[in-house]
Amino acid sequence: MDQNTQAVSKVTVPHILERKLQGEKVTCLTAYDYSAARLVDDAGIEMILVGDSLAQTVLGYDSTVPVTVDEMLHHLRAVRRGVQRALLIADMPFGSYHVSDDQALTNAIRFIKEGGAEAVKLEGGTSRAALVKKLVESQIPVMGHIGLTPQSIHTFGGYRVQGRTLDSAAELQADAEALEEAGAFAIVLEGIPRELAAIITRRLRIPTIGIGAGPDCDGQVLVYHDLLGLTFGQTAKFVRSYANLREVIHQALTHFRDDVTQGCYPDESESYHWTSAMREQFEKDATRSS
Ligand code: KIV
Repeated sequence: MDQNTQAVSKVTVPHILERKLQGEKVTCLTAYDYSAARLVDDAGIEMILVGDSLAQTVLGYDSTVPVTVDEMLHHLRAVRRGVQRALLIADMPFGSYHVSDDQALTNAIRFIKEGGAEAVKLEGGTSRAALVKKLVESQIPVMGHIGLTPQSIHTFGGYRVQGRTLDSAAELQADAEALEEAGAFAIVLEGIPRELAAIITRRLRIPTIGIGAGPDCDGQVLVYHDLLGLTFGQTAKFVRSYANLREVIHQALTHFRDDVTQGCYPDESESYHWTSAMREQFEKDATRSS
């Protein structure tokens, strides 16, 4: 297979696992709508996550907790229409996998069948391992997510880096191993010390995808809005903004406002025109009928 063919071939779960074996880094970004999905896919990012972070970035909630399965599905379908190559992963929102394994399976199946996701992600380690096993046995690939899991904000009492004590580090390592054992194909490590992320990454056969977990993970994920400088308010220490689109958009919008108020938009070239014959005829008819 030549390089060109490789560049457009569909990314699958086995492909993601293979990358770790080959020692190649994996990239993942969130996307919440069609245009973002097109841009992220065209950039060659391997995994696109319709993250529950959309609760904050596009729906304006103050945490990820309130977003519902139906809201997630609405965005997932839009993203699905924009993705050709990347592996598409749907985040299971808070409450969608907490009541029972059957409820979790029903919701995961909705994300796959109705939303077109190819995998789901859920938060939690050892306590979710049995559920992960059940989903995997039902032909649903699962990405785990441990560390600073935002759905646990009320338990943590805020967004706090996890794994800073020996006990919590050992717990997170056990969580990662339990998820691998249960059949997860990758694990997001969020908001944990670099040293712990490196140890977990070395011990696992499946890839770790870091966000605020240092550079030794097998891959990295960022929130689309953070990467592009579209987020309001303070961003976390680990965020690198590769553009300042808020500023670019602000300039464009105020420019439009000024052009319209000063009569500079639209101009001649941006207007449709009659032929001169049509104009003459219309004026003649108008004079006759007046
Ligand atoms: O919802 C999300 O965007 C996420 C990523 C930050 C991993 O869970």
